[in-house]
Amino acid sequence: MTAVVPRRGLSAAERHAFAAGEEAALAALRGDLRAAFTQGARAIVVETGDPSVVGEDGFAERLLMMGRWLGTPSIQSPQGERVARVERRPGDAQARGTHSDLELAPHTDLHDILALGTVREAARGGDSFLVRAADLHDAVRQRMPHHLPALRKGYFFGTNPVLRSRAPVSASEVPVFAGDGDGVQCCFNPYFLQAAAQARGEALPPAFADAVTDLRALALELAATAQFRLSPGDVVLWHNWSWLHGRTAFEDDPEQRRLLLRLWLRSDLCPPADIRFAERSVAIDDDHERTRREGIRVE
Ligand SMILES: [Fe+2]
Repeated sequence: MTAVVPRRGLSAAERHAFAAGEEAALAALRGDLRAAFTQGARAIVVETGDPSVVGEDGFAERLLMMGRWLGTPSIQSPQGERVARVERRPGDAQARGTHSDLELAPHTDLHDILALGTVREAARGGDSFLVRAADLHDAVRQRMPHHLPALRKGYFFGTNPVLRSRAPVSASEVPVFAGDGDGVQCCFNPYFLQAAAQARGEALPPAFADAVTDLRALALELAATAQFRLSPGDVVLWHNWSWLHGRTAFEDDPEQRRLLLRLWLRSDLCPPADIRFAERSVAIDDDHERTRREGIRVE
């Protein structure tokens, strides 16, 4: 089992203020959201109600408002958008997770706090899951303790090779697990680990590659007990280094296409267990900004 993500509904008065965009009347919600990160589970689902009341653009504005209560929204690509659309776009070669309908195995991204607002759920599938880093670390300690040294040491961290980057590979290894007890945090993204190996012209060290394979399987096992459904209007926010995230595969119908809106936030509400985690968002923000100025790399 893994920890359950708490939920917070809105009172009738808060729903009215949310729809009207009256930020001053949402002080209690703001306080609860900040408390969730400073002294709570570091993850929360806020049920804001039917998003069609405010429309997609209005919902994006309110998502940004909530994000700014917790941190600073980063741009999410060289195009410079602070609210990204997560939806299936057939034929998008650069898709990875954002524009595909495939299962996403548990992983972490690069920013401190992430948020997803639900405009439409999938016709079938597309359940979300969050696996607490400390729970995953406990499971590793119980079932595959021989992998802990390699995971605590970690490996270099790469970037998307089409981006212009001052540092395509991190200066040192970035640990997969850092911190102790309930404060264990995780940085686990096989795509960026492989990108680093490729940039360094080597394969992942065998002991580390084995650890990554087994950790992925173990995380998927925990994820199966941690699935939850996001309904329209639900906003999930979580500390990226305290929870791994992912989703099951999904299918759209022509009249019901899954659409989530995403924020990436830099935030100092939750201290990073390792300074090299915090450096990830600084590096990718710099890569996106550089690429926005100079254009995508063409090899
Ligand atoms: Fe992700």
